[in-house]
Amino acid sequence: MKNIILIGFMGVGKGSVAREIVKTSSYIALDTDDIIESMENRRIKKIFEEEGEAYFRNLEKSVALWLESSVKNTLISTGGGFYKQENLKQIGKVVLLDSPFPDIIARIKAHPNAVKKLAKRPLLSDLAKAQELYKERTPEYLALADVVVNVTNKSALECAKEILDKV
Ligand code: S3P
Repeated sequence: MKNIILIGFMGVGKGSVAREIVKTSSYIALDTDDIIESMENRRIKKIFEEEGEAYFRNLEKSVALWLESSVKNTLISTGGGFYKQENLKQIGKVVLLDSPFPDIIARIKAHPNAVKKLAKRPLLSDLAKAQELYKERTPEYLALADVVVNVTNKSALECAKEILDKV
């Protein structure tokens, strides 16, 4: 079993899909944002506020190098900007969760913890800027993906099954 690496825009549901994959397969999961928060013993939001984005991207780089050298047979969910790591394709099979921007925002807003979900993501604080970022990143996500799963109108379980079928 090769690693599966889930990429995609903030709020698209990488975490929920990862949890369903774990429930329905023998994969164990890791999340790059969780690893970074443990390394730093502070939340992503705090890291952005106290150190800035470049510092956070360097942490992502350390995580990417560690994943490539040391992690096998694992399902890895990533922060929305992790795909920029040069060694992404060496880490595992890249699966893109894809959804139109308005659907992503609607999905976050429909969540019972919507306020928290928006507040913890510094790059979602300005929706117009987030939409620009989405436009800029979408072709890059698509170019890197070995598998693309459109998540619109699908449950996390349906997406998980589709991923396990396709990889
Ligand atoms: C980011 C996405 C976030 C987190 C950080 C930066 C991005 O993760 O890594 O706030 O650049 O898209 P999620 O995709 O889990 O929100």
